[in-house]
Amino acid sequence: MNTLTSNPVLSLPETKKQMTKAKPRRRLNANQLMWLLKPLGFLLMLLPFAYLLFTLLTGQLGPNPIDEITDFTGEWALRFILLGLALTPIKLVFKQTWPLRFRRMVGLFAFFYLMLHIATYVALDLGFDLAAVFSDVLERRYITAGFLAFIILLPLAITSNRAMVKRLGKKWQALHRWVYLAATASVVHYIWLARGEVWEPKVYLGILLVLLSVRLFYAIKKPTRAKR
Ligand code: HEM
Repeated sequence: MNTLTSNPVLSLPETKKQMTKAKPRRRLNANQLMWLLKPLGFLLMLLPFAYLLFTLLTGQLGPNPIDEITDFTGEWALRFILLGLALTPIKLVFKQTWPLRFRRMVGLFAFFYLMLHIATYVALDLGFDLAAVFSDVLERRYITAGFLAFIILLPLAITSNRAMVKRLGKKWQALHRWVYLAATASVVHYIWLARGEVWEPKVYLGILLVLLSVRLFYAIKKPTRAKR
């Protein structure tokens, strides 16, 4: 006698009928998958902050840690703004809707890095000298552009929760379209401060133009589908 099948614990389905009766393999549905992917996405987006903390605490930020923190957080804020803007073009081009589920998280991380960026400048760089902040906003054009981006992004971050989406209805979408202007002002902020000395701002400008072109293309082609 086959010892494997005679053993009640180890027994395998013997006939085709028994095989079809075997428990169907459970597949994760989209919501369950998101339940797994969202914490992972959260941790990934927190990685730059963890890296910054690590380099700060281990004294690896070089002779100008304040400048390093300002630049690092500014770059990550910009990257997340552009990533947030890329999600709808990804949906339009690749017909994938799941990345849109990360839109709020990406937007809030952009704002988180931006707050660190501005806090470093106001608190550590200028020592809470609000008069100096005010005159910088008025007199240094790259700070004016950054400030404009911040003023636009602030209400977007505040209204990003579900309750506000419900409360504002159609106005919510109209309000959140201002993110394009905020992204443009952010890139201009970087271009003006770099004064053509580095190539990175041009790369960000290129990415922004591509993303805006895709949106425009689909808005002209299929006005109803490009609305999201
Ligand atoms: C009130 C608003 C803002 C203020 C006061 C501010 C201030 C600054 C300052 C002082 C610097 C360093 C300049 C230097 O290196 O000489 C900087 C760099 C930078 N900021 Fe801002 N910023 C603001 C908003 C923004 C926004 C909205 C973004 C993008 C989301 C941004 C992205 C950047 C980037 C990418 C850099 C350059 C990083 C690098 O050189 O690697 N900033 N900002």
